[in-house]
Amino acid sequence: MINVGVFGYGTVGSGVVEVLSENSDVIARKVGDKVCVKSILDLRDFPGDPFEDRIVHDVNLVVNDPEISIICETMGGVGAAYKFTVMALEAGKSVCTSNKELVAMHGPELLKLAEDHNCSYKFEASVGGGIPILRPLQNAITADRILKLTGIVNGTTNYMLTKMTNEAADFATVLKEAQEMGYAELHPEADTEGLDAGRKLAILSSLVYGKTVKSEDIPTEGISGVSLRDIKYAEALGRKIKLLAKYEDSDNGAYACVAPFMVAKENPLYNVDDVFNAILVRGNMLGDAMFYGKGAGKLPTASAVCSDVVECACNLGKNVPCDWKDEDVKFTGFSKSVKRFFVRTAHPFARDSVLNTFEGAKLIDAGFADELGFVTAPMSEEEFKNAVTLFGKEVNFIRFED
Ligand code: NDP
Ligand code: HSE
Repeated sequence: MINVGVFGYGTVGSGVVEVLSENSDVIARKVGDKVCVKSILDLRDFPGDPFEDRIVHDVNLVVNDPEISIICETMGGVGAAYKFTVMALEAGKSVCTSNKELVAMHGPELLKLAEDHNCSYKFEASVGGGIPILRPLQNAITADRILKLTGIVNGTTNYMLTKMTNEAADFATVLKEAQEMGYAELHPEADTEGLDAGRKLAILSSLVYGKTVKSEDIPTEGISGVSLRDIKYAEALGRKIKLLAKYEDSDNGAYACVAPFMVAKENPLYNVDDVFNAILVRGNMLGDAMFYGKGAGKLPTASAVCSDVVECACNLGKNVPCDWKDEDVKFTGFSKSVKRFFVRTAHPFARDSVLNTFEGAKLIDAGFADELGFVTAPMSEEEFKNAVTLFGKEVNFIRFED
């Protein structure tokens, strides 16, 4: 029998316990042995829970238990979770995690620690919830140069934007709903301000490069500035607003960014709604491939954590390698990247000034007389930033994704 410990019995951790027990026969077939949860570390007790007898409050009882060989870290954060992960790896126990904040911050260091102790550090659930995306990137799309990666990688904000679009629901109400469904981070600003998507993009682009892309180096904007008016304009333009995480290796240099975009109807990401996520990968030989599924929530995320448990269980006493070196990569191409921009300005009479400043701009009527909305011709981020300053502070803009 292979024994598993779980750190954190919350949304994802309780899902991991459920998947390992409900699907024990399928998992045993793949592994060739039974995989059982022996201990669950949490701060609280869970009276009446079917796994109540496995709850422990001392991490040492798990990391020093010679019968436990795999640990699922589903606590979150970079404090105790980091410390406990280090303890587990140093004890030679493989760790499978959904904690993207920790992976984005300490990934290569923890991978090296796992290598040094003949165990593995796995993090499939850290990007795209239940969608298999990290394993395909590392083990399937291995003969291509990745030219572009565009993802809806945050379930909370996609759920919120979908409700705002379809039901004109207000921001605070839909955020509360997403929290109630277990999609949001402990501090939901990580979702709404784009930080969670930035961490996931840092992990994806680090795996593309085999070196470390830091989330702090990724220009990041969230959805807190997106209003129902913006959504009306998007509708008038036949588009939807989505929070995109983008990596592109263009002629002007590679760049990564997270921001709300107005996505065209022809783009497959246009139809990715609710808590669903999707990652569109463009390889120079493959062309486009899209990975789609539930991006957050108890069982989809737990399914991804448990797929890592299966891989670790099949490789006990060995390190499953990961091509991610502790060497930083800095992208330089963002300011030169070219796109169209949708702009709203609170100066309804600035029509001539708009047409003079933004050559080729098209005015958009979404029925608001107290402002001017327009779409620019393709221009670089740098050119746009310089031009838009002429209109002062009362300007909102959203980038286009065709
Ligand atoms: P929850 O808050 O639901 O669960 C975390 C659990 O860990 C809680 O029960 C918490 O206890 C416990 N915990 C926190 N600190 C400690 C500690 N020091 N010692 C023991 N137990 C501790 O979070 P989620 O399950 O939603 O998320 C877990 C991780 O998975 C996060 O990194 C998150 O970003 C990630 N993730 C979440 C997804 C989701 O859909 N929810 C999807 C993909 C990834 P207490 O409640 O008492 O503080
Ligand atoms: N809060 C995250 C989201 C959880 O909404 O996508 C999944 O990583």
